[in-house]
Order: sequence, then C-alpha cells, then structure tokens
Amino acid sequence: MNIILLGPPGAGKGTQASRLVEEHGMVQLSTGDILRAAVKEGTEVGKMADEIMKAGKFFPDELMAQILGEHMDKLGADTGIIFDGYPRTERQAELLDELMAARGRTLDHVIELDVDEDALVERITGRFTCAQCGAGYHDTFKRPVVEGRCDACGSQEFKRRPDDNAETVRTRMAEYRAKTAPILPIYEARGLVSKVDGMADIGDVSDAIEQILKG
Ligand code: AP5
Repeated sequence: MNIILLGPPGAGKGTQASRLVEEHGMVQLSTGDILRAAVKEGTEVGKMADEIMKAGKFFPDELMAQILGEHMDKLGADTGIIFDGYPRTERQAELLDELMAARGRTLDHVIELDVDEDALVERITGRFTCAQCGAGYHDTFKRPVVEGRCDACGSQEFKRRPDDNAETVRTRMAEYRAKTAPILPIYEARGLVSKVDGMADIGDVSDAIEQILKG
C-alpha cells in the first residue's frame, strides 16, 4: 500500500507516519527529513536546502523528485511507502505520478489531516526531538515520561528545528495554502482523498487513519 499524508506544517504528518511505520512495517519517506539529513551532511544539496528551509520556502520541484526517486529505488517492490511532505506543488504531483509509474507502483490513499491553522503555531513552536534517536516530543502535548530523558533511548539530549519559529511557520503556512492545498482536487478527482480530523487526540487520529486503510 502506498499513501500520501497531506496537511499544513504541524498537522501531524510525521507523528502519524511514525505510527504507521510501527504498525504496518511501511517506510516513511519524509522529504523534510531527507533535506535535513543533507543539511547535516553538508552536501551541495544540503547547503541549498538550508537557506530555503530557514526561509520557509520550497526546494525546487525537479531536484526534489530526483532525490525522492533515489530513495524509492532503495526499497523493495513490496514495501509500502508513506509520503510525508510530498507532493507539495501541482508539478510535484505530476512528477510523483511519473516516479510511481516508472516503478510499477500505484497510489492507494491520500489522507488529508484537517486542522485549525491557529493551533498549529503552538504545536510547531513547542515541538522538540531526541538528538540521539529522533523520537518526537512536545512541550505541552507529549512530554517524556521521565522529565529530560528520552522514552525511546534514554538520551538526555534534545533539539529543536531552526525553522520552527513563529515567523518561518507563518511563511510555511502561506506556502501550503498557495501551493500545496491546490493539489487536493487532483486526487479528489481520482477518488483517493479521505479527510481526517487532525485536531483530535493523536491516538484518535491514528484510529481514524486505520479505519481508512482497512477500507
Ligand atoms: P517538513 O519537514 O515536511 O515540515 P512541514 O510540512 O512543515 O511539517 P512538519 O514536520 O512541521 O509537521 P508535521 O505535519 O509532520 O507535524 P508533526 O507530526 O511533527 O518540511 C520542512 C521544509 O522542508 C519545508 O518548509 C520546505 O522548505 C522543505 N521541503 C520538505 N519537503 C519538500 C518538498 N516536497 N518540496 C519542496 N520543499 C520541501 O507534529 C507537530 C507537533 O504537534 C509535534 O510536536 C506532535 O507531537 C504534535 N502533534 C501531532 N499531532 C497532534 C495531535 N493530534 N494533537 C496534539 N499534538 C499533536
């Protein structure tokens, strides 16, 4: 099964993708994570991505598709993919069709996380991750069970994303509204879109997604 998780910054795409990986053994391809890894490695792509991400703008469509295709090629044909943060523009939606067709894959579901944008700034600015294993937390909604210690690996080091400040978040939201939201009708016309209330508790959002996947 191959699915797209669609929603504005902070909608919970990464949170739900991690759960699907655990429950179904699918692979999460997060274009944001791919670009952050390139930034960390200091590659040419990473240098370019660093500037763009800090500004809350989008990385170029054609190059993003090429990079995504390379990641898809590392997966077995039977491995289900969760696209997290891709596609983000109408051109990326076209390119995804090409990437999928070239690999004999089809898209099964597009799950739209429906959220109240005003609440997202709090979600995003309160988010942090374990510096060791990447487990995600939130100042208010998901604190580690033992304060200052990662539930998953026990590390005491945490980090925050440089683009998770209120100003950049507003640009990211505007980019979503202008460039990403318009791709929904493309998938609606194919009967692939299911809407989930992304403002519900994390567990309830997961349950709603499970129901969709069960068909
Ligand atoms: P990316 O990394 O994809 O960021 P994003 O789309 O802005 O999404 P986020 O990761 O911020 O949010 P999320 O929906 O995953 O929410 P999360 O689960 O963490 O992209 C970053 C940048 O990279 C872009 O701005 C762009 O520059 C570039 N880029 C990436 N892909 C690109 C592409 N295809 N083309 C061009 N450029 C690209 O949840 C947020 C917080 O809320 C967490 O703390 C979580 O615990 C909490 N939370 C989640 N769900 C709930 C809930 N139901 N209730 C309460 N709290 C919740």
